[in-house]
Amino acid sequence: MIGDKKVLFSGMQATGNLTLGNYLGALKNWVKLSDEYECFYSVVDEHSITVRQDPAVLRKRSRALLTLYIAAGLDPEKNCIYYQSHVSAHAELAWILNCFTYMGELSRMTQFKDKSAKHADNINAGLFTYPVLMASDILLYQADVVPVGIDQRQHLEITRDIAQRFNSIYGEVFTIPDAYYGKAGAKIMSLQDPTKKMSKSDENPNGSIYLMDDPDTIIRKFKRAVTDSEAQILYREEQPGIHNLIDIYSVCTGKTPDEVVKEFDGRGYGDFKLAVGEAVVGQLKPLQEEAARIEKDKAYLDGIIKNNAEKAGYFANKTLRKVQKKVGFPERVR
Ligand code: TRP
Repeated sequence: MIGDKKVLFSGMQATGNLTLGNYLGALKNWVKLSDEYECFYSVVDEHSITVRQDPAVLRKRSRALLTLYIAAGLDPEKNCIYYQSHVSAHAELAWILNCFTYMGELSRMTQFKDKSAKHADNINAGLFTYPVLMASDILLYQADVVPVGIDQRQHLEITRDIAQRFNSIYGEVFTIPDAYYGKAGAKIMSLQDPTKKMSKSDENPNGSIYLMDDPDTIIRKFKRAVTDSEAQILYREEQPGIHNLIDIYSVCTGKTPDEVVKEFDGRGYGDFKLAVGEAVVGQLKPLQEEAARIEKDKAYLDGIIKNNAEKAGYFANKTLRKVQKKVGFPERVR
């Protein structure tokens, strides 16, 4: 708790171009949660270097992501929006927690298995201990809730295991966090293969809507979206393409899937795809304009970056000092 509010922590990596899925599935929900919780939203750049990055590109994308957090509606005076690498406590706690995490449990992580298959030439120790850094992110702020996608479930579970293990040895040091999964409707699938999640790393750019796509590109991608030959707009598992389009339209307009089905009763797929495309353009345009505006105001953005890193550091170091004391590090001489 900070004051009378529960604490929320989440983070995103600035690798790849963010997609509509990242926005509708995560960022947009974050904005809704920001009144209820004391929120920490990090750009987790330390996680990003577990795979090779071009330094200039990483730096640029990290700043763009931080800008996007604000453009999406997260008030940086109320929400702590910061770079993970600006708060050294993350790496320090990660070292300590590495000593409370077993090789066996880390080798069971499906993300590690997937990523090491994908980057067989660079299976580094950071990739292996990635979940421990993630646990440190969360535990440093004594987070109660962590909004994440279903693909991060295992990492949340190992975070809870590490925290419980530490607490059982040293007493109540860490809050045990709960995962917070967004509403089912917010899982956005690829436009080219609606059985797969819309992904930043999809090789087919037509499958994903990128947040910085211009209106023409967005409309074109929706026109090409894979559907089926049923020729009826119904919300059911047997029609994954249409199901996904209904979800997207529903999140953009605030209408329920049933309302969407009624609205398009008897109309063709072409009409519907165009309407979804236009709804998405309507969502992304203000976001893009706001991001461009903020980006230009360098002094403002730098101020936010500095103040929020200090704020995050204050809370993070409180936990870190407690942990250092518990494990037996000598007290600092003042
Ligand atoms: N691993 C998360 C992802 O790729 C990103 C992340 C890092 C994160 N640290 C976190 C998410 C802490 C939630 C909480 O999506």
